[in-house]
Amino acid sequence: MTPTLQIVIASTRPGRVGPAVAEWVREQAETHGGFVPEIIDLAEVDLPFFNEPSHPRFGNYVHPHTLSWSATVQRGDAFVFVTPEYNHGFPATLKNALDYLHGEWGYKAAGLVSYGGAAAGTRAAQMLKPVLSALRMTPVADGVAIAGVASLVQNGTFTGTEALAAMTKTMLDELARTTDALAALRTKTA
Ligand SMILES: Cc1cc2nc3c(=O)[nH]c(=O)nc-3n(C[C@H](O)[C@H](O)[C@H](O)COP(=O)(O)O)c2cc1C
Repeated sequence: MTPTLQIVIASTRPGRVGPAVAEWVREQAETHGGFVPEIIDLAEVDLPFFNEPSHPRFGNYVHPHTLSWSATVQRGDAFVFVTPEYNHGFPATLKNALDYLHGEWGYKAAGLVSYGGAAAGTRAAQMLKPVLSALRMTPVADGVAIAGVASLVQNGTFTGTEALAAMTKTMLDELARTTDALAALRTKTA
């Protein structure tokens, strides 16, 4: 079965460029053909700050928003996190969404698409990797780093350069290989 790729929009503020970047990534994934891509918008998921009484590794969720988020993430076989850089890190909205769950993330591959100014969100991407590792995710080495994102968005549409499209293809190839390799681990832990 073709794996489901969840493309997660990390930013939630009005006027954000995250959805435009994510839509372009979705198109690249359609062209790639190795996944069934699905956009997950954290603004729509709309989680409050973490308010579960138990550690998520127990799965004893008491809130409907957590049960719903858990069901969504369980459907994903691999992830692309589309994240801006806020103050040299990734947004709190993404950390909160990750913290809510535990086993649902485990043994799944993750690709990082970061964006910002001159540093292309790379500081946010590097900060995200150890958090993903703590959740037993496997971040692939080949990410996509978009410098000067504002100049690539016009009328709400993001248009990536050929170089960015090539980086995205490499990331998706790596995600596909890693997702295949991790399938055995996911079966053992299920
Ligand atoms: C709170 C905040 C902090 C920011 N910090 C950085 C930063 O550290 N590095 C950077 O390159 N851009 C920074 N920016 C600029 C963002 O990269 C730019 O606004 C981008 O569009 C944010 O993504 P979004 O539109 O999806 O929210 C910051 C923007 C905001 C709102």
